[in-house]
Amino acid sequence: MTLSAPEASRRTREICALAPIVPVLVIHDVRHARPLAEALVAGGLPVLEVTLRTPAALEAISAMASVSGGHVGAGTLITPEDVRAAKQAGASFGVSPGATDALLDACEAEDMPLLPGCATATEALRLLARGYDMLKFFPAEASGGAPAVKAIGAPLPQITFCPTGGISLTNAKSYLSLSNVLCAGGSWVAPNDLIQAGKWSEIEALAKAASLLGRPG
Ligand code: 3PG
Repeated sequence: MTLSAPEASRRTREICALAPIVPVLVIHDVRHARPLAEALVAGGLPVLEVTLRTPAALEAISAMASVSGGHVGAGTLITPEDVRAAKQAGASFGVSPGATDALLDACEAEDMPLLPGCATATEALRLLARGYDMLKFFPAEASGGAPAVKAIGAPLPQITFCPTGGISLTNAKSYLSLSNVLCAGGSWVAPNDLIQAGKWSEIEALAKAASLLGRPG
């Protein structure tokens, strides 16, 4: 089934609306995948992005896909092969730091909702022209941070962003308070040292603190 770009964005937006923070996960050992996903979901962060930058990533996606209440996506989709592998592993959405026509074509052909990345107004316009209005803003802090997202939103209010890159518990609110930001991505909720040590309750506590960022006040 071919997925249209507007339908892809609608589905991605639905997923992005589930929690204020999308943990960006780097998993080296597949045995960590399930307890990590359970801790994050229990902490109130059901939307997870597993980066395809480790050999364990695809197996980790498969292991996490069955965790109740979770929505597991594959990050750093770059090539059509990445899209097919992520789909086969059980990812329910994809994330990319930028976008190429080949990547967008593959996601649409594979029925994989994509959160495509942009960092400039021209990149955002190009994606909007193709039908995508739910975009990742990357690398968020290095590209001007919340003021840049706000400024791009003035002429392009029809686009909603998930900023990612350099976001932490401290600065996340500056993004989440913007009307054109639905959620933000960040790796701080699942630090490598806590994953390696199997400190799942500490990760759950980080997730809980991040999940509360979406509350008013
Ligand atoms: C990444 O590519 O690792 C993501 O953009 C996450 O960035 P962060 O580590 O700055 O949250």
